[in-house]
Amino acid sequence: AARLAILLSGRGSNMLALAEAVRTGVLRGLAEVAVVFSNDPGAYGLEAAAALGLSTASLASRGRKREEFDREVVGILQSYRPDYVVLAGYMRVLSPTFVRAFAGRIVNIHPADTHQHQGLHAYEWAFDNHLPATKITVHLVDEGLDTGPILAQRVVNLEGAATLAEVQRRGLAVEHVLYAETLASLITTPILPAPPIPTHNS
Ligand code: GAR
Repeated sequence: AARLAILLSGRGSNMLALAEAVRTGVLRGLAEVAVVFSNDPGAYGLEAAAALGLSTASLASRGRKREEFDREVVGILQSYRPDYVVLAGYMRVLSPTFVRAFAGRIVNIHPADTHQHQGLHAYEWAFDNHLPATKITVHLVDEGLDTGPILAQRVVNLEGAATLAEVQRRGLAVEHVLYAETLASLITTPILPAPPIPTHNS
């Protein structure tokens, strides 16, 4: 089974949905949770993971320089030998050091179409702009902000969603299903790195 390192900064509802998919759903037999890591030792999601009996680790990012902090996080994660690093509400931009350490094996879920909205507050953006629908995106992480290759997208119907809480409720319901399904297909059919372009010397 593929070993997942799940990274979170807060509530951890996506982590819980993935853990449940590993236990009884589409990820059963395909994946195991190697560790749940947080950059905030007080994150609720970390507590929730521990309550499920999952391995947890944390390192406070507050006040730390990005490169230096990420180097330490890479060391911690490597000790769990993950096949995939799964960002689940991990609210930090990854440094090149981090991205290169797990190149092509870092997955993120973003609660918007990454071509239309990057970064924080995607549900607020959809709500404030009265969008009739938004999209959830699961993508591989590269060195940009929400610029990596898209693995899957799914539409969230927002018609009649009168509050931000309702937009989030509908969106999260889609996130929880889409993330597990997309990881299952990634594990079953890995994305191979593009072969080098042949030259006349090779
Ligand atoms: C989720 O909506 C996730 O898509 C979003 O944070 C929330 C975390 O919730 N991620 C981002 O906005 C990344 N830019 P959770 O902790 O309950 O999974």
